[in-house]
Amino acid sequence: MTADNLLNKVDKTKMPRHVAIIMDGNGRWASLQGLLRSAGHTAGVKTLKKILTTAVNLKLEALTVYAFSTENWKRPLTEVEFLMHLFSEYLENEKMEMHQNNVRLKFFGRTEDFSPLIQSQIKSATELMKNNTGVKFNIAADYGGQDEIVRAAQKLARKVAAGEISAEQISASVFEDELDTVGQPPVDLLIRTGGDLRISNFLLWQAAYAELYFTKTNFPEFTPEEFVDALINFGKRDRRFGGVNLV
Ligand code: IPE
Ligand code: IPE
Ligand code: MG
Repeated sequence: MTADNLLNKVDKTKMPRHVAIIMDGNGRWASLQGLLRSAGHTAGVKTLKKILTTAVNLKLEALTVYAFSTENWKRPLTEVEFLMHLFSEYLENEKMEMHQNNVRLKFFGRTEDFSPLIQSQIKSATELMKNNTGVKFNIAADYGGQDEIVRAAQKLARKVAAGEISAEQISASVFEDELDTVGQPPVDLLIRTGGDLRISNFLLWQAAYAELYFTKTNFPEFTPEEFVDALINFGKRDRRFGGVNLV
């Protein structure tokens, strides 16, 4: 299907504002092909490029992808090192094109345990794109939802200790201002590829009222067509947010 046909399939009035993707199943995809897990990660990067291009063409407001969790450090060192190398290469190779597409890149997560090289790449890429006004593209790297909530709680505790705010002034919206997602639209749609039915510590706070879309497709085989299908499926959901929709 051509890019234009694909875009025409989407009802722009029913689009999610913010889509988050748990890009899972790279390793299993590689094993099924008789390849090393690393080949699955390389293939996953190719898929990510296509999904970001689709998001740009659709003028999606925000896209957040889960690239590396706080738990992924438990993997064999060779795999962690490969992922770091891939991450660094991705930033180097893609940042100019992202910038030309007016993408506003941000990172969610801790990032201080990354190598000095990756930390400086993250800094320079975000700095380069900080005034862009197109798709908000967020990469969650060394990210965990629990860790994000703990960091926010620590920031607020420091403010209370410094007498800047009182404990009673902490509301859900004050709390949200300390999360990595500050300034982002609410997460409307959370997609997980790879067939597992869990959140794996992704966007725990933000997923409160997100619509969930699980697919058995492993991430390397996830296509712009299936991404668009997920958006169309989202448009058909009846979102009630605890209330009642009167017909
Ligand atoms: C997702 O694919 C990528 C990362 C977690 C970095 P996996 O590597 O988890 O692939 P599976 O789930 O083992 O197939
Ligand atoms: C979630 O996938 C993390 C990323 C996609 C980056 P995992 O493969 O780490 O999740 P589990 O271990 O199956 O829960
Ligand atoms: Mg996995």
